[in-house]
Amino acid sequence: MAPRITVIGTGYLGATHAAAMAELGFEVLGLDVDPGKIEMLGRGRVPMYEPGLEELLQKHVAGLEGSTGRLRFTTSWEEVGEFGDVHFVCVNTPQKHGEYACDMSYVDAAVTSLAAVLHRPALVVGKSTVPVGSAARLARLLAELAPAGDDVELAWNPEFLREGFAVQDTLHPDRIVVGVAGEHGEKLLREVYAGPIGEGTPFVVADYPTAELVKTAANSFLATKISFINAMAEVCEAADGDVVKLAEAIGHDDRIGKKFLRAGVGFGGGCLPKDIRAFMARAGELGADQALTFLREVDSINMRRRAHMVELAREAVGGSFLGQRVAVLGATFKPDSDDVRDSPALNVAGQIHLQGGQVTVYDPKGMDNARRLFPTLAYAPSALEACRGARVVLHLTEWGEFRELDPAAVAAVVADRHLIDGRNALDAAAWRDAGWTFRAMGRPRA
Ligand code: UGA
Repeated sequence: MAPRITVIGTGYLGATHAAAMAELGFEVLGLDVDPGKIEMLGRGRVPMYEPGLEELLQKHVAGLEGSTGRLRFTTSWEEVGEFGDVHFVCVNTPQKHGEYACDMSYVDAAVTSLAAVLHRPALVVGKSTVPVGSAARLARLLAELAPAGDDVELAWNPEFLREGFAVQDTLHPDRIVVGVAGEHGEKLLREVYAGPIGEGTPFVVADYPTAELVKTAANSFLATKISFINAMAEVCEAADGDVVKLAEAIGHDDRIGKKFLRAGVGFGGGCLPKDIRAFMARAGELGADQALTFLREVDSINMRRRAHMVELAREAVGGSFLGQRVAVLGATFKPDSDDVRDSPALNVAGQIHLQGGQVTVYDPKGMDNARRLFPTLAYAPSALEACRGARVVLHLTEWGEFRELDPAAVAAVVADRHLIDGRNALDAAAWRDAGWTFRAMGRPRA
């Protein structure tokens, strides 16, 4: 019989993983400690914006018309313990307040609660991003606390999904990495992932520490790529070069590649910034801090982008923000998401506001989350409304909608035609033709 699956923690990662497991044909039970979330998911509704996820839930959530009924949600640990053969732990590991290290309290609490209800053989699979060494510690915790004792095994299976592409990345991952302590775990996970493996997805088997490190290494590499091109943007600006052209040219070398070389206001979100910091903190504990000092520079280059955007905007409004209207297009950390965690766009908007600017923000999906985080900023119901009366327009998240804006229509509502493209995604010539002063990060002025 096919293994029955539970998913613990139903945020971006868990909700998507649960729906994807149901899509792959398994019976799935999702658990969250937040009853509000569980109630919503039980109605086939998603508590965040993630393209395609709601459709997938509706297809599988039990009790909905026409669904396969393979997916259910609960807040009961006992039910999870009784139901599952394979338990995926998908809770988050945010940055600790005032420290670089990540906060393991949600993972620890989840594994402790789960262990107590494991009365029969089970495989516990960690998916959360954790400091290396956590899996070994959690395996000991399970052995100590689970009533089923040796019949409970732990595996580590990091997740590489991108927000905005979560469904596609989960159903068709570019690799599956599993850290296992024995053959049984590997065999069971091969069964769970038989679908993607059958499509040719590489299945990499490693030990615990390597599997944990693969995740932080991958995110560190991506962050480094972005900060590298942003460092080149700084040099381009000083030397009157064009970083977009430069990225295109170096990207033709397939050892370098074109991806993740978009210069702009830099990376944000719930993963890259906190993952590189947690990695540095963990390396320090292990006595390997020298190996990762470059990540400090990666982080600084990234944070400098935000300050630089504020400077460019200040310059555009004549040297001081006091009483000046500033339009901010974009609030989320990237397009096709409603996630505003550590968003460069909101960080820039907040800094300008604190310096006396009157900032109005518009975002296609992130308005509610942005309002909760920065209630003192002004919000407009459309891009055009946000731009009304503005002395400068800042393009900070590259939503498709902003590329469709008509430069002449925006020109008709602003006070001054100054646009700064913080994502190098707009058509400079079209804006300049409509009489705009168009500046972009790392590109020549005229
Ligand atoms: C990232 C990784 O890409 C995923 O593989 C990983 O699974 C995930 O973190 C995680 O650890 O959970 P995500 O945070 O969804 O995914 O976002 P990315 O697409 O990586 O973008 C991160 C940030 O970098 C965004 O703010 C984006 O605007 C910025 N970025 C990206 C650039 O500034 N330039 C680029 O060329 C690419």
